[in-house]
Amino acid sequence: MSYSPYFNPDLETMSRAELEALQLERLQKTVRHCMNAEFYRKKFAELGITPDDIKTLDDVRRLPFTTKDDLRENYPFGLACVPLRDCTRLHSSSGTTGNPTVVLHTQKDLDEWATAVARCLWMVGSRPDDVFQNSAGYGMFTAGLGFQYGAEKVGMLTVPAAAGNTLRQIKFIKDFGTSVLHAIPSYASRIYEVMKEQGVDPRRDTKLRVLCIGAEPHSEEQRQRIEQNLGVKAYNSYGISEMMGPGVAFECQEQNGLHIWEDYFIVEIIDPVTLEPVPDGELGELVITTINREAMPLLRYRTRDLTRFLPGECPCGRHHRRLARLQGRSDDMIILKGVNIFPIQIEKILLKFKELSTDYLITLETKDEGDVMTIEVELSQLFTDDYTQLKTLEREITRQLKDEILITPRLRLVTKGTLAVSDEKKAVRVKDLRKLF
Ligand code: COA
Ligand code: ZN
Repeated sequence: MSYSPYFNPDLETMSRAELEALQLERLQKTVRHCMNAEFYRKKFAELGITPDDIKTLDDVRRLPFTTKDDLRENYPFGLACVPLRDCTRLHSSSGTTGNPTVVLHTQKDLDEWATAVARCLWMVGSRPDDVFQNSAGYGMFTAGLGFQYGAEKVGMLTVPAAAGNTLRQIKFIKDFGTSVLHAIPSYASRIYEVMKEQGVDPRRDTKLRVLCIGAEPHSEEQRQRIEQNLGVKAYNSYGISEMMGPGVAFECQEQNGLHIWEDYFIVEIIDPVTLEPVPDGELGELVITTINREAMPLLRYRTRDLTRFLPGECPCGRHHRRLARLQGRSDDMIILKGVNIFPIQIEKILLKFKELSTDYLITLETKDEGDVMTIEVELSQLFTDDYTQLKTLEREITRQLKDEILITPRLRLVTKGTLAVSDEKKAVRVKDLRKLF
């Protein structure tokens, strides 16, 4: 059977002029809809604007920015633009030390999200005859249900394997004939290492063909290594839970930049200091306005992700602009094993223990078994050197950290004065030794 190269041919290949007309119509509708939330009414009043001021696409720059702090401060439902009874799902970030971020969806939002992911999966060559396996965490992680519904919309047989248990992942890949796999890049490498240990040759023993990798910054070299090792084509995926999750931007088969779906989003790239647009093609912070969302539209959301627009037309026929692979963050967020972590979450847990001093150092490294986080923390002067007591303390701190940041760090309690972290300048708290870019 022969299929169209596009999942939504009309929307994916429409001309720039048609796309921009659709964007303006959706932007105006979204801005009016935002007035259902007290949060936006106040922001508009502060700026002295009304929805009627949005007459052209460039007027998006008159709108207020939104940030993660806005979501936290208006936790949990302050940005909802529909009554809660019209919402059918929420996703939330990890952590309990501060307010997590909450994103609400109506059923239409969920359908649109699934369509966006289906477009991405189709764009990289998945078709209904494929078997799709997802090694993302399910539950609150948007990559679990996000890829799940997208892959179902494509019509693939789906294997919701979820995170972890690598031997079982490999058994599923072999036994079910998995041809399309979603994994974060460091986990794809881990799967390959375990396959080698088990004597499994991906080319001989599996049908793996397409790999979707995202949620973790990685270099072109890393991609190529993964492709060679697993005998697949690996495509870069960009998602952000505030926008919905995966499905925001994805590479096409040209593997040259990520098309961002501009019928869903208006995209700006700004200087994170001046907040002005950077010259076209230069690196800056990605700012996204949702124009296709009911429950919780976000205006000019500052993603803190750094990227740039790629110039020119893509030979694949889609006119949605392309972003370069993500180049890092304009804040201090750590991404490890596909989990987003802020150092302040770790600090708040450590501060709860009177046995600890305030000096700590977080080190991120790539080891054979995957990426690991080591937290070294100084004991306070008064605390014991009794081994059993120290081990008990270590276990309790590790347990509380895991509850907060979802991954298990390696913890090392060290004697006071060992860490040279508190010089006169701002203390260096995070050392990232991974080769990311
Ligand atoms: N995806 C899938 N599995 C992963 C993983 C990842 N990002 N990172 C690690 N794993 C595997 C490990 O290889 C290990 O497998 P094993 O059972 O074969 O040994 C298992 O998960 C546990 O890993 P470990 O490092 O000991 O656990 P942890 O306590 O640090 O927690 C996870 C790790 C997997 C539970 C946590 O990182 C997670 O849920 N990650 C998924 C995040 C995600 O899906 N984010 C969205 C992506 S878009
Ligand atoms: Zn393309």
